This record gives sequence, C-alpha cells and structure tokens, in this order.
Amino acid sequence: MTGTVMEAAARTEAAARPMADDLLLDIRGLTKGFTLHAANRRVRGCEDIDLSVARGEFVGVTGRSGSGKSTILKCLYRTNLPESGEIWYDSEAFGCVDLARIDERRMIHLRNYEIGYVSQFLDTVPRTCARDIVLQSAAEAFADPAVAEAETDRMLTHFDFPRPLWDLFPNTFSGGEKLRLNIARAMVKRPRLLLLDEPTASLDNASKLKVRDLIEQLKVSGTTMLGIFHDLEFMEGVCDREYSMQRGGFVA
Ligand SMILES: Nc1ncnc2c1ncn2[C@@H]1O[C@H](COP(=O)(O)OP(=O)(O)OP(=O)(O)O)[C@@H](O)[C@H]1O
Ligand SMILES: [Mg+2]
Repeated sequence: MTGTVMEAAARTEAAARPMADDLLLDIRGLTKGFTLHAANRRVRGCEDIDLSVARGEFVGVTGRSGSGKSTILKCLYRTNLPESGEIWYDSEAFGCVDLARIDERRMIHLRNYEIGYVSQFLDTVPRTCARDIVLQSAAEAFADPAVAEAETDRMLTHFDFPRPLWDLFPNTFSGGEKLRLNIARAMVKRPRLLLLDEPTASLDNASKLKVRDLIEQLKVSGTTMLGIFHDLEFMEGVCDREYSMQRGGFVA
C-alpha cells in the first residue's frame, strides 16, 4: 500500500520534470555553501553546477583541493543537503526523482539498492570485521545468502585483501587497506549509479590497476559512474567526459 502511494508520488514528480531518455542524472544549478556561525563566515562549497550524465557513462571530475568536488558527490548521496538547485535521477524504484528534495525514506532505499558511494575517507563500522562489512553490503543486493558470500569473497580476493585480515576490525588497517575495503563494500552491490571520491588515492600501482579493472567491469555491466580523480590520465580509455573544478564551479 505504502509502496503504491510512494510510486504515485514519484510518478507525479516525474510528470512535473521529465528528463531526456538517455540521461540517468541531470543536475541543474546545484549550490551548497557552509555557514560557520562561530566564525561568522560563509565557506563556498559548490556553486551553480550543471551536469548531466547519460546511462552507462563514466564522467570524471578533477580540480584543486578545496574546489568543491566532494561537496557535489555528498549532495548527490545527500550527506550534504543542497541549498538550491535540482538533482534529477531516474531511479528504478520510483522513476524520475529530485535527490535534493526526495524524502529520507526513499533516499535510504536508493542508498541501499541503487546508488553506491565510495567516500574519500573510510568511516569504519565499529566492531565489525572486514569481511562482514562487505558481506552486509552484499546481502542488501543479493537475496540468496550463498551468492552474497561468494560475491564478498570474490571482491576481497580481487583486491588482494590478505586472508588474515578478513576477520579483523579495520580500525587498525593501513590507509590503502581501508580504501580497498571501502571500494569493495560499494562495488560488491554493482549499483546503478556509483559515486567515487578519489578511489585511487593512497593506493599503490597494482591496487590502482585493480580498481581500474573493476571500474571497467562495472561499466560493461551498465553501471553509470561519476568519479573524482586526482589523476584522470590513469582513467584514460574508461572516462567518457571530464570536468575540471575551480572555486566551486566548472571551468572549460
Ligand atoms: N561540512 C563542512 N563545513 C564547513 N566547510 C566545509 C564542509 N565541507 C566542505 N567544506 C569546505 O568547502 C570547500 C569545498 O570542500 P570539498 O571537500 O568539496 O573540496 P574538494 O574539492 O573535495 O577538496 P579535496 O581535493 O581536498 O578533497 C572547502 O573550502 C571546505 O573547507
Ligand atoms: Mg574531496
């Protein structure tokens, strides 16, 4: 019943703002700044961002530190609440929805089943061992527990995650190990839309190649990706379009 009401609401939103058929994501005028009350200051995050991403496309974003790259991804995943603008996403569950305004319940559903996010820094889950972190994520995507387990092990093996670490808490892991775990957790679900915030930072070359390899596999299987990279040359051949950021906006 609730599903029907939610679907009806989604259809109304879709009718209000249809987007081109080939697009999965259509961002219009996205702005997010931060007010620091104690210092009586306003810090620029991102300003008036327009960006559309076609289904199956891989769009790369580069730019200087502090230019607002992570702010955009956090708005899409709604860990940042946008101040203004629209983020249209053509979801499988609810049709075309504005992620800037969608209710929390539907946003949680999308985070669980459709939109993956590899954050720049791993926020470790307390008292959960490495394998269980990935397995919990896989279990949300695969109903069959045997499949979830097999996909988890495949992912940890792909990233050369040493077996002795599988049943340890990751709070003591190295930066690169945490990052690889973070990527495995997001990628194991094979999300429709994957947001990557510098997924290759602090990785050695062999690990970078593994990430690239998985990104290519996901792309072939139809995942749409928006990724921030320090060095987009590394993604040559996978990246379809590139944007560069400066002071909160895109530059040519
Ligand atoms: N929660 C917050 N509160 C206050 N200011 C913030 C917050 N998040 C980001 N900022 C500020 O917004 C600006 C953009 O930050 P953002 O994290 O998007 O940069 P970035 O381009 O991802 O940088 P980096 O390459 O270093 O990761 C920075 O000046 C940052 O200090
Ligand atoms: Mg960042």
